[in-house]
Amino acid sequence: MKVLVVGGGGREHAIVRALARSAHAPELLCAPGNAGIAADAECLPAVAADDVEAIVAAATERGVDLVVVGPEAALVAGVVDALADAGVPAFGPSAAAAELEGSKAFAKELMAEAGVPTASHLLLRSHEEAVGQISCASYPAVLKADGLAAGKGVIICASESEARAAVDVFFTERRFGETTVVLEEFLDGEELSLLALCDGENVVPLAPAQDYKRIFDGDQGPNSGGMGSYSPVPGFGAAEVEEIVDAVHRPIVAAMARRGRPFHGVLYAGLMIGPDGPKVLEFNTRFGDPETQAVLPRLRSDLVDLCLAAREPGGLAGAEAEFSDEWAVTLVLASAGYPESSSKGDVIRGLEAAAALAEVTHAGTAQRAGEIVTAGGRVLNLTALGGSPAEARDRAYDAATRIEFEGMQMRSDIAARAVDRVSS
Ligand code: AMP
Ligand code: GLY
Repeated sequence: MKVLVVGGGGREHAIVRALARSAHAPELLCAPGNAGIAADAECLPAVAADDVEAIVAAATERGVDLVVVGPEAALVAGVVDALADAGVPAFGPSAAAAELEGSKAFAKELMAEAGVPTASHLLLRSHEEAVGQISCASYPAVLKADGLAAGKGVIICASESEARAAVDVFFTERRFGETTVVLEEFLDGEELSLLALCDGENVVPLAPAQDYKRIFDGDQGPNSGGMGSYSPVPGFGAAEVEEIVDAVHRPIVAAMARRGRPFHGVLYAGLMIGPDGPKVLEFNTRFGDPETQAVLPRLRSDLVDLCLAAREPGGLAGAEAEFSDEWAVTLVLASAGYPESSSKGDVIRGLEAAAALAEVTHAGTAQRAGEIVTAGGRVLNLTALGGSPAEARDRAYDAATRIEFEGMQMRSDIAARAVDRVSS
């Protein structure tokens, strides 16, 4: 069996590794992949992760039996539909179903229809309307681009003057090419990422995870693509997960089916757990990065079987995703300048020493003259497992001391909260 993974980041490296553990012993391809994935799969560097035509061509030429898509752009652009037309089975939502991530306005409409708790909101369709609404809003308030913005389209505004500046970013600068902006109530609490596999009808939750979005310790500084994660999350055992899936994922999957857009693939709910319980911040229609790097190493079920089952309507009936009892902590090592910019071409040292202590998954790396060098903002992920959060965390940070590259950035407080909660 041949499986093609689309993408070239830490998430895709973790997916490749989890697929490699399958009893199907699949031959693995990755488009485009990266310098680390090349050790675990055949990389197709000429096939960009958002180039639908090139992905379909590669999958058909290579006789691929299953495609697993990592990033959102190709999903929203209809890669799963195009692969289906070409007769290639793919795990992931159709373009119509991926609109849950591709349009926040659509996600809000569906949540209202399905009775799923989320922040109250208004849609702003012009500069004039936005200026009018922000003068009546209460602060803090949140402004979000309607469409895909690589995690950067959310601006939290402490005051009306900050909201005015944000409105200019959206409507005058058109930084996100947007014509629709969501003005949303600010939610306070703790974030949780709960991903679930869906087959159009059934929902199979994965282990919960927490993601660290800000670049600096103590949740300071700008949002990044994610600086670390851990799984499981204290306080969110099987019973709590079921409650959330009943309140959020199942009603959404049912509403999508009613609309004739059955949802297959990963439904990722980004939640704020506040005083009135969980509320949805956003939906993604794919695996999270870096949550996947902490979740999949704990997966004991066969990922190939789960992906194949999720493609069939109702194929996941009775299925369960089983996880080990271990704790997993993932650290992201980022290059100098990230998230505003990234430094490329810096030599990375200590990869072997780190790999003896933790699972090293590559994100922005490249091979140059026999050396591995930085090639992006987020460079590497280190995932360590342990019998307690403290053990996993210590191992991950120990592994990080072995890695060296110019200007390396890392948060020092990943999973500290889990350690405190479990030991207190
Ligand atoms: P999103 O892409 O919608 O998940 O937003 C990215 C990040 O912005 C979230 O993970 C939160 O940290 C923050 N955020 C988004 N919406 C809200 C909200 N309504 N209240 C507070 N924080 C938010
Ligand atoms: N961890 C955030 C995301 O994958 O969108």
